[in-house]
Amino acid sequence: MKLSSANINVLVKACRKAAKTLIRDFGEIENLQVSVKGPGDFVTASDKKVEKILIDELQKARPTYSILSEEIGEIVNDKSFKWIIDPIDGTANFLHGIPHFAISIGLEHEGEIICGIIYDPIKDEMFVAEKGKGSYLNNQRIRVSSRSKLKDCIIFTGGPKNNSKDASSALEEYKKFSSQVLVPIRKLGSASLDMAYVAAGRCDGFWQRNLSYWDIAAGIILVKEAGGFITDFNGEHQYIENKTILVTNSKINKEMIEVLK
Ligand code: 2AM
Ligand code: CA
Repeated sequence: MKLSSANINVLVKACRKAAKTLIRDFGEIENLQVSVKGPGDFVTASDKKVEKILIDELQKARPTYSILSEEIGEIVNDKSFKWIIDPIDGTANFLHGIPHFAISIGLEHEGEIICGIIYDPIKDEMFVAEKGKGSYLNNQRIRVSSRSKLKDCIIFTGGPKNNSKDASSALEEYKKFSSQVLVPIRKLGSASLDMAYVAAGRCDGFWQRNLSYWDIAAGIILVKEAGGFITDFNGEHQYIENKTILVTNSKINKEMIEVLK
């Protein structure tokens, strides 16, 4: 089964095109690790190149839509439709030659994400979802897991950055969850893929502070359409405004909120 609609086709085409550059640049990274300057500037340039390809493709197909993208910020146009773009989510992995990062794009309509794509170009895993039509990984329908006890779950998180105000809260949460689960917590370094993995049932729950809208936009529709839950740490729906996000299957949301209290 395949998810095919006009907007999904636009997203898939843009991602496939940008991924060619991304894969080629990733191949260069290994050589740059040993250079004196390191890969920093190269990665910044790559991020911008990938962003430009995505924006050019999306604007060609949908000239009136607005855009919010991590590197360039906002392009204001018809405000009712907005592409939310993270050209490389998992930049630190990319920089260190770790093959776990993704292109992430969501489409917002009247303030709600209605479709999205998360593409891991190295594993060639394409996650897509559209409102009312389900979530898919490489054309196969995906669902969240059905584990119902936190103890048996595999939990992901990310951060904290060393300069963040709430680093100690994040570490405290890490301690609390660690004492609840049998399998140690995972930190894979790409928030969008963390959310895609919840949608695919690979991960049962994910919590993180201080993510930006572009990190999570595509993940929102993927998780919802796969039957998962997204809340803030209080179990409310203000996860974008409050900058605390809890993403779970449909069974462990309450138990994770209890731990976060
Ligand atoms: P990026 O690679 O696009 O910067 C790492 O924990 C994941 O969280 C990555 O997806 C990273 O996105 C994202 N992230 C963005 N801002 C963050 C922050 N302030 N603290 C922790 N993680 C952040
Ligand atoms: Ca990014």
